[in-house]
Amino acid sequence: MRKSGFFVALALSAAVATPVVAQMDVKDQIETRQSAFTFAGWNMGKIKAQAIDGDVAYNEQQILAAANAIAAVANSGLGALFGPGTAMDKNDNTDLKPEFFDKPDKAREVAIGFAQASNKLQEIAANGGDKAAIAAQFSEVGKSCKACHDEFRAE
Ligand code: HEC
Repeated sequence: MRKSGFFVALALSAAVATPVVAQMDVKDQIETRQSAFTFAGWNMGKIKAQAIDGDVAYNEQQILAAANAIAAVANSGLGALFGPGTAMDKNDNTDLKPEFFDKPDKAREVAIGFAQASNKLQEIAANGGDKAAIAAQFSEVGKSCKACHDEFRAE
């Protein structure tokens, strides 16, 4: 678990990222990371509806599918989509603050937080998916999203 968080964090630090595929252009990096976060948000919404709000019946299989999807995003090497020149100082179509590139330690910290929280949610979902435990860990994942948004995403 810690290992995957570490790799996500490493990949987030653009300076040490080793491309595993041909580098995408700036526009594609921005659009792909926005899609990834939108997809993670969609899956967070499903868990919220079932485990927090209760307006959809609780279904362990659906919770597991959503947790798997969120963990997949967190462990996908998102850092490759935060290449140089992809912040809002140079592009109109992104909310990434340029400070992202000045604070690699903070970027690493929030990336590790996201990966660890998501991996734990996935683990709970895979081990029976107790509703109260899912709800508690959902909140931790939400905090990990917010920790990064507060730092690096423009209002
Ligand atoms: C490592 C930092 C980081 C983490 C962790 C993170 N986000 Fe984001 N998120 C961003 C940034 C940066 C943007 C703006 C991306 C852009 O516009 O290029 C963003 C944008 C978004 C968007 C808008 C996408 C769009 O189409 O513009 C949504 C929705 C979102 N995040 C949801 C989430 C959720 C839900 C989580 C947690 C499950 C999460 N994010 C975790 C940094 C993060």
